[in-house]
Amino acid sequence: MSVIVVVGAQWGDEGKGKVVDLLAERAQVVVRFSGGDNAGHTVINPYGEFKLHIVPVGIFSPEATCIIGNGVVINPSKLIEEIDQLNKCGVSTSRLVISDRAHLVMPYHLLLDALEEERRAGGALGTTRRGIGPAFADKVARLGIRAGELLDKEALKERLHFIVDYKNIILTKVYRTSPLSPDEMYSQYCRYGERLAPYIKETTVILAEALSCGQAILLEGAQGALLDPDFGTYPYTTSSSPLAGEGCLGAGIGPTRIDSVLGVFKAYCTRVGSGPMPTELHDETGNLIRERAHEYGTTTGRARRCGWFDAVAAHFSQRVNGFTGVALTRLDVLDVLPSLKICVAYKLDGKTIDNFPSSVTALERCQPVYEEMDGWLTDISHIRKYDQLPPQARKYIERLEELISCPVSLVCVGPEREQTIEVRPVW
Ligand code: GDP
Ligand code: IMO
Ligand code: MG
Repeated sequence: MSVIVVVGAQWGDEGKGKVVDLLAERAQVVVRFSGGDNAGHTVINPYGEFKLHIVPVGIFSPEATCIIGNGVVINPSKLIEEIDQLNKCGVSTSRLVISDRAHLVMPYHLLLDALEEERRAGGALGTTRRGIGPAFADKVARLGIRAGELLDKEALKERLHFIVDYKNIILTKVYRTSPLSPDEMYSQYCRYGERLAPYIKETTVILAEALSCGQAILLEGAQGALLDPDFGTYPYTTSSSPLAGEGCLGAGIGPTRIDSVLGVFKAYCTRVGSGPMPTELHDETGNLIRERAHEYGTTTGRARRCGWFDAVAAHFSQRVNGFTGVALTRLDVLDVLPSLKICVAYKLDGKTIDNFPSSVTALERCQPVYEEMDGWLTDISHIRKYDQLPPQARKYIERLEELISCPVSLVCVGPEREQTIEVRPVW
């Protein structure tokens, strides 16, 4: 078999949860490779409806080993809550494995995320306040604590004291807030360690073994390409890479092993949090999409900003990810619109451009140039075959394929597993 990476291609919430749930049935190993519990992946399957933040969506596949990779930051309390919730619903977590190299989200990360957002006031990034930015910052600053360290209580105690002493200087002197108790934190993290110990392992050996047996491996992304710290709308980004390339680094697999890269796109655009979004609609159509599709954040409940499909951004996303296929989700949401717009270029300072600018100030000045197409004004949610889609819907899909420069492999016409049209083999 082979290795596939499934990633978000826009600003997150593209429907990765649904797509991974569908494809994980074909995988022996599933690895979540980036982000943390800022992610919210919705799955509706025979077990019920779930919103997973940290456990790989592959957990519903009865055969698959599910790894939380080294590229993920883990809030242990959230992870334990999620494991308990899954078990309560009859979903086994006995095949869950946590990389001993994955970093932990600590209480000071949550505090510092919120304090920094408040300090930025009107210029806030609109983070999920899950401590993700501070946790990844500590990883590269070599101040992080890794899951494997929970297994050595003595060493953990010493390191935790060293780090908390430093964090308390920042909390009290910079933010003028109360210090945290290292002893309380130590006891709390020892309890987490006892609970999570059976799951914590060196995971690259599991992957190497799976590769040598020719097993199918699915690398499960979080967030979306336009939130990437390098290629996204910096500084309005997240703090780990949601790109396909990170699939290798965040799991511990060499790039030569990747066979397919599936980019998940919504049939329109949404964004939650601050930062430029050239096709955002501030009108009735935007509201209609939001209400019809219930576009509210899975993690924070915030209203998502909605707009037309941005093919300039989509083509850029293809360039930095190298998709071999596209999963187009939420096409059914557009059923009620008499006409649809696709942004095919931007107008920037009087010039027409077809490249996604690296500067957010430039992107904020970009005006979308639209191409208009007829809608189909028919319910497509029951359709399971591509050639049964209304001709206008096929035309819309085919135009997106041209603009993204990548074939569409999957079309989703509803949130449930079976509401999917497999146009061509994904993997
Ligand atoms: P993720 O973060 O990429 O996994 O996406 P979210 O779960 O945050 O948001 C996607 C939402 O779209 C969820 O509520 C899904 O149940 C829903 N969804 C996924 N695919 C479809 C689809 O084709 N049609 C409709 N109507 N909803 C979908
Ligand atoms: P999934 O995996 C949508 C956004 C936040 C904010 C920015 C930085 O469900 O697609 P962070 O908390 O990461 O420091 O916030 O990134 N963001 C997401 N938006 N979907 C997500 O995940 C997101 N994860 C983070 O809203 O704008
Ligand atoms: Mg989401």
